[in-house]
Amino acid sequence: MEVAQRLQRIPPYPFREIAMLKAQMLAEGKEILDFGIGDPDMPTPDFVIEALYEAAQDPITHQYDESGYGLPEYKQACADFAARRFGIDVNPDGEIQSCIGAKEALAHIVWAYIDPSDVVLVPDPAYAVFKVQTTWCGGAAFPMPLRAENDFLPDFSQIPASVAKAAKLMFLNYPNNPTGAVAPLAFYEEAVQFARDNEILIVQDAAYAEVSFDGAPAHSILEVDGAKDVAIEMHSFSKTFNMTGWRLGWAMGGAEFIDALSTVKSNVDSGTFMAIQRAGIAALARYEEWVPQMCAEYQRRRDALVDGLNSLGWNLDRPQGTFYVWVPVPPGFSSSAEFTHALLNDCGILTTPGSAYGTTGEGYTRFSLTIPAEDKLGQIQQAVANIREQMPNLWK
Ligand SMILES: Cc1ncc(COP(=O)(O)O)c(C=O)c1O
Repeated sequence: MEVAQRLQRIPPYPFREIAMLKAQMLAEGKEILDFGIGDPDMPTPDFVIEALYEAAQDPITHQYDESGYGLPEYKQACADFAARRFGIDVNPDGEIQSCIGAKEALAHIVWAYIDPSDVVLVPDPAYAVFKVQTTWCGGAAFPMPLRAENDFLPDFSQIPASVAKAAKLMFLNYPNNPTGAVAPLAFYEEAVQFARDNEILIVQDAAYAEVSFDGAPAHSILEVDGAKDVAIEMHSFSKTFNMTGWRLGWAMGGAEFIDALSTVKSNVDSGTFMAIQRAGIAALARYEEWVPQMCAEYQRRRDALVDGLNSLGWNLDRPQGTFYVWVPVPPGFSSSAEFTHALLNDCGILTTPGSAYGTTGEGYTRFSLTIPAEDKLGQIQQAVANIREQMPNLWK
């Protein structure tokens, strides 16, 4: 049977070729240095697992969470965290919604607001969900290029006034996948003003908010005065506590946006397993002791990779957030895809072509610092050594 047109409109899986090549190399018994997928390689902290174990034994948690917005104590824990971490005041009763990971909330907020032909401003390169969901709702995605010369921030002055006026929703994502950029507060102030001027809802994807480096924690857009009038921000436990498989997050922002998201959710899912919400409370309670050492580990890897690549002729700045390094394709390769293939074929290094994240991603390859192998730094050194050996004339 033919699938619905909305499925037919999804672009072909951009990682298919690379995935096939990887499978073939593994079948041939070749070793692969895996910098591909961005999924934390370290386990969820014991104190979170123990909290889940305990909560799962309470039969109350086995039922539907009929609260709709999430357990009151879970929303309170998220609000307390937002106050501690960002110095912001978010009302747990109306300005917070639990979600099944940031992805779920990012998808459903589009269903809450976008009708056919509505314009959505979408960063390019970006996480694919923004554009796919826009397309599914019949919306028109207008790309906002993220370029190195603008610190991988969108340049609002480049958006034609007619497009800005027509736009109904704008996605932002900082710290940013795939570029590793972090947004300064001044940028969020500018974004909030732009949204006010043009009556746009900002959806800020903060999935990587807690992965930042050099002692500079990332900001929340809600730190901007009045941001709740125009913004909703999606937070996640996935990267913060190595909980990608658990599917837990929360949305916070203006009450009307939270309410609209909740209406969609209540017609699609029935919330998050209450035992997982209780585990989330335990996680946030120990945020301060957990996160610095996690960031320090990624920072060690970041430094090893950036220094290693720079020793080969690149001139990379150290990314300030996420666990990605956004690496320009050296001259001599005609595309991201060609360079990514060469890295895999010749050096055994698996990365992701920048073009998979949008047109402006062409010319880059993404290295993820989540490394499945046991010896993380060893893998990075091996990768650098392989490039040195196999591609001696990269920058000549
Ligand atoms: C930019 C971005 N947003 C959201 C997500 C998904 O987060 P979650 O696991 O909370 O759904 C990812 C996952 O890779 C991501 O890269």
